[in-house]
Amino acid sequence: MTPAEKREDDLEASADNLFDKVVNLCKRRGFVFPSAEIYGGFRSTYDYGPLGVNLLRNVKAAWWRSMVQLRREVVGLDAAILSPPAVWAASGHLRQFADPLVECRSCHERWRADKIAGVCPNCGSRDLTEARAFNLLFKTHAGPIEDEGAVAYLRPETAQGMFINFANVLNTMRLSPPFGIAQVGKSFRNEITPQNFVFRTREFEQMEMEYFVPPAEADRWFQYWLEERFRWYVELGIPERKLRIRHHGADELSHYSVATADIEFLFPWGWDELEGVANRTDFDLRAHGEASGTRLEYFDQASGERYYPYVIEPAAGATRTMMAFLLAAYDEDEVAGEPRTVLRLHWRLAPYQVAVLPLSKKEALTELSEAVVAALQPCFMVDYDVTQSIGRRYRRQDEIGTPWCVTVDFKSLEDRAVTIRDRDTTEQVRVPIDSVVAELQARTEHC
Ligand code: GAP
Repeated sequence: MTPAEKREDDLEASADNLFDKVVNLCKRRGFVFPSAEIYGGFRSTYDYGPLGVNLLRNVKAAWWRSMVQLRREVVGLDAAILSPPAVWAASGHLRQFADPLVECRSCHERWRADKIAGVCPNCGSRDLTEARAFNLLFKTHAGPIEDEGAVAYLRPETAQGMFINFANVLNTMRLSPPFGIAQVGKSFRNEITPQNFVFRTREFEQMEMEYFVPPAEADRWFQYWLEERFRWYVELGIPERKLRIRHHGADELSHYSVATADIEFLFPWGWDELEGVANRTDFDLRAHGEASGTRLEYFDQASGERYYPYVIEPAAGATRTMMAFLLAAYDEDEVAGEPRTVLRLHWRLAPYQVAVLPLSKKEALTELSEAVVAALQPCFMVDYDVTQSIGRRYRRQDEIGTPWCVTVDFKSLEDRAVTIRDRDTTEQVRVPIDSVVAELQARTEHC
């Protein structure tokens, strides 16, 4: 076992501890704040602070890069969050998007029946009501009149935006199956028990792609996307042993799915879902086609055949995934006999890729450091820190996951060179100021 693996095992042994440490770090260092905190909080939502917003944007950008930018057959979409009831009637959500709700007859807390094994987690009572289906859709009214004719819903998944725009995208983009439509954005579910920090919230962000394939190829593409998506997490730094694939049993499948497999992460409370990959068949296109009267089939000009493609859907949570990256990256070690906390985030995800640290606040060093910052900024997110000792500043950058610190010292004024320090190895190399950008670009694969 390497020292790093040993440390990880120690951290896993105190898993609750890890959860608390990461949640505290998120608050203390400006990653995630509880929403409406100054009014006593609003338990089911969170706000992303200056560092969290960078990390979350980077997670979404890494997903977009892999799912859209690096592919020829996948295009993007940004559909509306508010939609009319007809969409959710056809998709089946108005009828079937529900969790089983029970109430404890002793303390009157309400729970999701499938998550509590018959015992109230609040007071330990087994005296629970019969489970009833509780619909998770958020209902609101569009416009100034609050009658039934004005009802609208906040989307509980981004997916339907892709289905109802299927014909628009097909007609404008000259695509043929297999092809995909990808979307990143907010979704809303009136969860019975939001919990575990940003793991389950009522407002969250999803990263979903609907991949339209000839029905006969659906099984092959299901397997393909399961493997692709698993690889994405590993490439961005989650150790394989903390990931697993779990196939759903028939009783677990959503109303639209004939096969679903979850990519699960080993959270401090155990294995839990990061992402679901589903074979949604032609359920959605057929339902919207029939309900709207608009043809949502694909016409294959070569064969003269018209058919509803099947849909393979990798559906991930951006906010949940961000939390998994933080948990996987958290580490504690020693540097020169001093304990440190370090987030070993992949450079693509780190809130800042570089921090520029002048050794002193003297004017000449400030001027030179500001020039270094200006040279780096077009290519990287750069932090600039002049307060406290250099050792303290390194620790601060380690704790927020900055992969590289660029230190500007008095010698820099003479040799026009600076020191680049690596977060993980703490190794330092001297580099001419003129090549700092190129050096860091090389370390980030030039993109
Ligand atoms: N379109 C399919 C769909 O929405 P899902 O498994 O219900 O499938 C996909 O959601 C992903 O969205 C989940 O794997 C999870 O990462 C994220 N997600 C779902 N509900 C969430 C919630 N309440 N809070 C945070 N993330 C959530």
